[in-house]
Order: sequence, then C-alpha cells, then structure tokens
Amino acid sequence: MSIPVPVPEDHFSFGLWTVAYPGHDPFGAPTRAPMDPVHALERLADLGAYGVNFHDDDLIPFGTDDAERERIIERWKKGLADTGLVVTTATTNLFHHPVFKDGAFTSNDREVRRFAIRKVMRNIELAAELGAKTYVCWGGREGAESGAAKDVPAALDRYREAFNVLGDFVHDRGYDLRFAIEPKPNEPRGDILLPTIGHALAFIETLDRPEAVGVNPEVGHEEMAGMNAAHGYAQALWHGKLFHIDLNGQNGPRYDQDLRFGAGNARGAFWIVDTLEQGDYAGPVHFDFKTPRTEDEDGVWVAAAACMTNYLILREKVRAFRADPEVQDALEAARLPDLFRPTLDDGEGWADLEQATLADPDELAVRGAGFERLDQLALEHLYGVRAS
Ligand code: GCO
Ligand code: MN
Ligand code: MN
Repeated sequence: MSIPVPVPEDHFSFGLWTVAYPGHDPFGAPTRAPMDPVHALERLADLGAYGVNFHDDDLIPFGTDDAERERIIERWKKGLADTGLVVTTATTNLFHHPVFKDGAFTSNDREVRRFAIRKVMRNIELAAELGAKTYVCWGGREGAESGAAKDVPAALDRYREAFNVLGDFVHDRGYDLRFAIEPKPNEPRGDILLPTIGHALAFIETLDRPEAVGVNPEVGHEEMAGMNAAHGYAQALWHGKLFHIDLNGQNGPRYDQDLRFGAGNARGAFWIVDTLEQGDYAGPVHFDFKTPRTEDEDGVWVAAAACMTNYLILREKVRAFRADPEVQDALEAARLPDLFRPTLDDGEGWADLEQATLADPDELAVRGAGFERLDQLALEHLYGVRAS
C-alpha cells in the first residue's frame, strides 16, 4: 500500500483554530507565532483539504471595530476564492473572554446570556453569507465546579431557550443552516452540561425545531469519558443526527489531548472510519486536533497532513476488511446477518411468541459467538498483514 494522497473530493476540513493553535497551555506560553488565517487557507489547500471551519474570534479578534471587521472579511473571502476552499461550518467562541467564565447560554447572569445569543447571531449572519451549512455549538463553559452553583433544570431551560431563539433567527432569515451540538464531559468546566451524545440527543427532542439540530461528536471527548466513540457515532447516525464530526486522537481517560487523527487509540479510529463508511454520513470529514507545542510550524503541517493521510489509510483498510471473503465468512459465523432479521416473524405478536416452541437455552448457551476470529481478522487488516 502506498501513502494515499488527499484530494478535495475526500471532503476533509479543518477548524482554523486547529492549525493556528500557537501552543499555549495552562502551564506555558505559546511556542509558535500567531498564524495569518489566509496563510492557513493556502497551506490547507496545498495539502488537499476541501474546507474550513472557524470561530468568529479566530478570524475577527474580539472587540474589532466594524470597519476593520469588514476589511478582514473581504480579505478572507479573497483567500477562499483564491484557494477554492469551502466554508463548510462555523462556530462561536463562547469560552475565551472572561465574560463567559460561568457559561454563555446558561450563565446565571442574564445579561451574559443575552450577550452570548447576540454574539452567535452575528456570526451566523457571516456563516450564512459564506455558505456554511452547519453551525457547531460547543458549550465548554456551560457547567459548574460545585453543586449549588448551577440549578441544572433551570440551566437546561435557558439552554433550550437559546437554541429556540437561534432556531427562529435562522428560520426567519431563511438561512440554509443546521446546528450541531458538540458534547464534552468536562474541561474547561469541572462538569459540562450535555456531557455525552445521549444527553444531547435527548435535549434536542425538547426543542421547537428539533429537525434543525443534530450533534457534532468529537472522538477525544467520547474517549475521555471511557466511551466507545464509534458506537456513539453509530447511534447518532441511527437517529439521523450525525450532522458533523470532530475527528482527532486520544489516549484514554485524561485531559482532552486533541492528537492528530489516527494517533492515540488507533483501533478505535479503525472502527470510527468503518462506522462512517458503513453509514450515510454526508457532512465534511472534519478534524479538530492540536499540534503539540513541541513542534514548529513545519510540524503543524506534518500533523495536519497526517490527519488526512491516516483517515485515508484507515479507509482503505476498512474497505479491504469488509471486502475480504474470510471476513464475510466470519461475519456469517458470528451471526451478524441474523441481527438484521426482526426477532419476531411478520405478523407475529407477543401472544404468538408466548405459544411458540423455543430453542433450548442450554443448547443456545454453548454456541460460540465467533467474535475472536472476526476481531483478529480486523486487527490483521489494521496491522497491515492482509493485502488490500
Ligand atoms: C474543545 C472543543 C472545541 C470545539 C470548538 C468548536 O474541546 O476545545 O473540541 O475545539 O470543537 O470550539 O466549537
Ligand atoms: Mn471539538
Ligand atoms: Mn475537544
């Protein structure tokens, strides 16, 4: 297998903040210089990316006056036109400015909540103008460090109110834009509201326009909580709610590492790509990674390119796995086709089941599942000893 080369048709996209991350962390100052957003577009296009995503403040520093804002936007538009990159997605920075220290949509301070919704509206206007189809909402500051500080039902009322107001805004303006909520269990808050895909999915169903809101699960956020990211992606797809994805790498439960995709839990990454390939995910293949602060700018581009390369390597491997006749045989032996069959026959109900002659449970219990053979075949494909 040769090293695959990404092309725009692969629909890879990057958050502007990912490649522009200058390497600051809670213990140390930045190790790299600030990056010009247009330079980021040029380099990403050279590497074969398709699109970009940005926070309002990534492009237009907080507090910029209107005239300067317009100048920045015009330059950004020219950069997009020159490089051919597409704005697939946009999002709002509701976490950096100290005003958001107790959250944005769910801050106890009503004035902060009003400010936050207006900040989002302003960037949605720009996102729609630039052609973004998805608007990501990551509520990293929506949460608490202590029990009485947050009344969770009241905070969820305010969270819902914010999404309803923003849903009306998008609807009334006629924008072709859907929201994607990004769950995360903790960091920067001690505990974040809507911490998992499941919490978010249940919350979405309470909104005035649930059809306009889905999820944007991040690999690292699932694995930080010890969960199976591929299963989370699969369930979001099952609900028709996988509107966007944040791919990256993580080594188990610890801080959000944001490693390049394919680093960290490589076996988990294999199943994520398999899930996306098997399902009908139609959004951009989006990376939210951070280059470690040990690297200089060359290292940033190595890491960005590697996100795409690793995705393509894993895509070849999962396709080869699914096409392998031995795998087909192992899937059958493991009764996967049987799982697609409804448990009751057509027209059969509980009363028929009550009367039916069932198989002997002791005989069923001794049947081997065949999963070890199946998983070993997957590992052999992942480890590269089975030809693709
Ligand atoms: C994080 C999050 C963010 C969001 C981004 C888009 O853990 O910091 O993953 O990077 O994805 O703010 O809304
Ligand atoms: Mn993210
Ligand atoms: Mn993250």
